[in-house]
Amino acid sequence: MANDKATLTIGDKSWDFPVHSPSVGPDVIDITTLYKETGCFTFDPGFTSTAACESDITYIDGDEGILLHRGYPIEQLAEKGDFLETCYLLLYGELPTKEQGDEFRHRVTYHTMVHEQMNRFFTGFRRDAHPMSIMCGSVGALSAFYHDSTDISDEKQRMIASLRMIAKMPTLAAMAYKYHVGQPFVYPRNDLGYAANFLQMCFAVPAEDYKVNPVLAKAMDTIFILHADHEQNASTSTVRLAGSSGANPFACIAAGIACLWGPAHGGANEAALNMLEEIGSVDRIPEYIAKAKDKNDPFRLMGFGHRVYKNYDPRARLMQKTTHDVLNELGIHDDPILQVAMELEKIALTDDYFVEKKLYPNIDFYSGITLKALGFPTNMFTVLFALARTVGWIAQWKEMIEDPKQKIGRPRQLYTGATSRDYVEVKDR
Ligand code: SDX
Repeated sequence: MANDKATLTIGDKSWDFPVHSPSVGPDVIDITTLYKETGCFTFDPGFTSTAACESDITYIDGDEGILLHRGYPIEQLAEKGDFLETCYLLLYGELPTKEQGDEFRHRVTYHTMVHEQMNRFFTGFRRDAHPMSIMCGSVGALSAFYHDSTDISDEKQRMIASLRMIAKMPTLAAMAYKYHVGQPFVYPRNDLGYAANFLQMCFAVPAEDYKVNPVLAKAMDTIFILHADHEQNASTSTVRLAGSSGANPFACIAAGIACLWGPAHGGANEAALNMLEEIGSVDRIPEYIAKAKDKNDPFRLMGFGHRVYKNYDPRARLMQKTTHDVLNELGIHDDPILQVAMELEKIALTDDYFVEKKLYPNIDFYSGITLKALGFPTNMFTVLFALARTVGWIAQWKEMIEDPKQKIGRPRQLYTGATSRDYVEVKDR
């Protein structure tokens, strides 16, 4: 923007506020002194027009359907790299050299085990507990174990806490799954890659050897990359706000997991597959399109629409490709649910309602079909999202803690409640 200031006029008074330009994307009007100067708050429920922080981790162009991590397009990271390389990039800001990558991989690998007493947390849950409830509890419980890495003012402790989170999430996620299905926990193996290790911890059983299918391990790794980080989404903002008080990093990640669980956010992958299965066949699609368009019906097409993307979510395209790779590898042809999804997408993308509102498939639309084909029950889908997003949450938390301008987040409000009034005795009410 040519101007380097914005002028606000209220009545006969005017104030100028600085305008900052980003490396790419919209300019921002800096209103940090607005309340002090004008006595007014801004009002932006849902933060639709609010930049809550300065960041150089992830950039999204919602109109063009662009997603960059430290400047690298998600398509290139997913097609040319692997998840741990993306983790390194998100944490350190640059792609690792071979030595740096090998050292990072080694450090993550040797933190994958959890304290043996963690097992006792699981036995307290009902077997039919939703795995996300178990993740909220078990990840929060990690804060009880690592007192050597909770001084967040110490960079070394921040990094060891970050590595532990990235390394232990697959182990805890697999334990949540094993507990849910009543099978014994499977320990991590240091000779396997990150995604392969996760698959063996989920699907190996003591009764026989388990051989990881490399095509499925690659698909799992790609799915992790696609979910790794996504700017200031609801769960990342939750982690930043929790972390702004100086809270324990493991507890902050548990707060992010809780927020991600909601069906409007990460819980949409579970809700999207449930929706596709409820639709069941292509001939029932018009009925559900009509429900989604009906103002009086709270039903929404799960996996469709996005606060930022007003174009196709680039991750959804890559996820669709991964879906086909997995189904082909497993010999699943003409999957009826995939047929419903592809037909639903085709119809929605030509329907005026969805076109006008710029509603496109998001990452959650196809992920459920892929995860189900990989063998996961629907209620594990958001756990996998949380597993992958942990690196994004941690990278954003670290950036917030290391920001010299960082202070505790404390929004204000538009108060519309009762003004001051005197207490009324119960006999007079
Ligand atoms: C994720 O922020 C992120 O980056 C999130 C995420 C990440 O990686 O972290 O990308 C992951 O959460 C993806 C989104 C997953 N959620 C879903 O798929 C649930 C279904 N989608 C919707 O609930 C909705 O699209 C949201 C929550 C995703 C976005 O909602 P917004 O930005 O608040 O938009 P809105 O609710 O104001 O909708 C705008 C209009 C409304 O109609 P009007 O009031 O203007 O008439 O579009 C309609 C909505 O009713 N609309 C839909 C719809 N999504 C929006 N109508 C039918 N079906 C839908 N899916």
